[in-house]
Amino acid sequence: RNCILIGAPMDSGKRSKGCLMGPDAYRTAGLPQALRDLGHEVSDRGNVAPAPFTARPHPKLVELEATIAWTQSLADAAEAAMQEGLPIFMGGDHALSLGSVLGVMRHARQAARPLFVLWLDAHSDFHTPETSNSGNLHGTPLGYVTGRKGFDGFPEIGTPLPQENVAIIGLRSVDAAERAALQDSAITHVDMREIDESGIARPLQAFLDRVAAANGLLHVSLDVDFLDPAVAPAVGTTVPGGATVREGHLVMEMLHDSGLMTSLDLVELNPFLDERGKTATLMVDLAASALGRRVFDRPNRAY
Ligand code: ARG
Ligand code: MN
Ligand code: MN
Ligand code: MN
Repeated sequence: RNCILIGAPMDSGKRSKGCLMGPDAYRTAGLPQALRDLGHEVSDRGNVAPAPFTARPHPKLVELEATIAWTQSLADAAEAAMQEGLPIFMGGDHALSLGSVLGVMRHARQAARPLFVLWLDAHSDFHTPETSNSGNLHGTPLGYVTGRKGFDGFPEIGTPLPQENVAIIGLRSVDAAERAALQDSAITHVDMREIDESGIARPLQAFLDRVAAANGLLHVSLDVDFLDPAVAPAVGTTVPGGATVREGHLVMEMLHDSGLMTSLDLVELNPFLDERGKTATLMVDLAASALGRRVFDRPNRAY
């Protein structure tokens, strides 16, 4: 594969800061070399910057203009990179997916292929600017790309991503307003209880089978808080009871075996909160599994 690394030091999606250091933490943890070692072509395109904007305070929403400006530049970067290879967005908080998914949607439209999105996250990020209690726009990207109302000032999305084409796996923190909308929706939502009872492979394989049957493109968005905070503490929104290292690698290995993944977000890493780089290292190892590293080839680590 031709892996295109795009740094997205976006930190406007929530109040607490530090995700702007994410791209350099992935570089320091060796993401480019790990992918080269698997035989891929890798080009690190450096960091994207937001489009020009004027910051104005908003009664509720955190850094609205900055987030809109990042959405514009990241959508362009994603659309361009999709023509050349497999973009990997090194975040940056989850608001970067407002832009990365939009750009991939534009590409899918031109390619006349349906787009599917796999959201690996403790949260559903299905808010709109109106339903959000926190005002943090990192809680809204799935609401935006599926065409929910209230994203005034953001780029037009065109035809929304069909809810049927979205699966969220790892859920254990969903706000009341999101829960109602999610349960009314056709989005596949897999919570930790289902994973505990039946395993993570079954719902994932069912989703991958649907992507394959539709000859779809597959965008994967991996939020650090999908993982258990004991192994991935470097995130502002830790929720206990997350995916294990084993579940994380299994998901990534199944993605590789499917051959379906066409773009990837690595989001919410806050290096300021890490312990000796263990979260950055685990995220790099998971990305490597998604790009073909096998279980016997994994480096020995003590996360
Ligand atoms: N639902 C909460 C909110 O709207 C948490 C969102 C967390 N999102 C994330 N990308 N970590 O604020
Ligand atoms: Mn998220
Ligand atoms: Mn999350
Ligand atoms: Mn349902």
